[in-house]
Amino acid sequence: MKSLFSLMLLTLACSAQASECELNIDSNDQMRFSTATLTVPVSCQKVTLTLTHSGKLPKNVMGHNWLLSKTEDMPALVQAASAAGPGNNYIPADDKRVLAATGLVGGGESTSVSFSTEGLAGLDLTFFCSFPGHWALMKGSFVVSD
Ligand code: CO
Repeated sequence: MKSLFSLMLLTLACSAQASECELNIDSNDQMRFSTATLTVPVSCQKVTLTLTHSGKLPKNVMGHNWLLSKTEDMPALVQAASAAGPGNNYIPADDKRVLAATGLVGGGESTSVSFSTEGLAGLDLTFFCSFPGHWALMKGSFVVSD
């Protein structure tokens, strides 16, 4: 019994709770995300983010996705995303500045993406929707915390 307890403490100390590594963010017909900050502990080797769209408008009118990049890369990525177009979910292909990205969703839909936090701790990171014109309202800080 005592050894089992020690094992439990060890497990807690060495790995983040799975729930801490699962993020949820909602989006809506008012062109907004439900939060401006997402935080995960650095101990998450894999993060799974689920994007929901609680609005009613279709994705060709009010589509939302979720891209993660260094804050300094965001302005150029906004341009590249627009050029990539709806056929690519407004995600530039094979672009290393895109650290993670979901597909594009419309009202009532959801999507998720899993990605590694390796090398992301301490970086100035921003998440945003790359649907043309949305980034100004739909963006926030992504923090990988110690
Ligand atoms: Co959007």
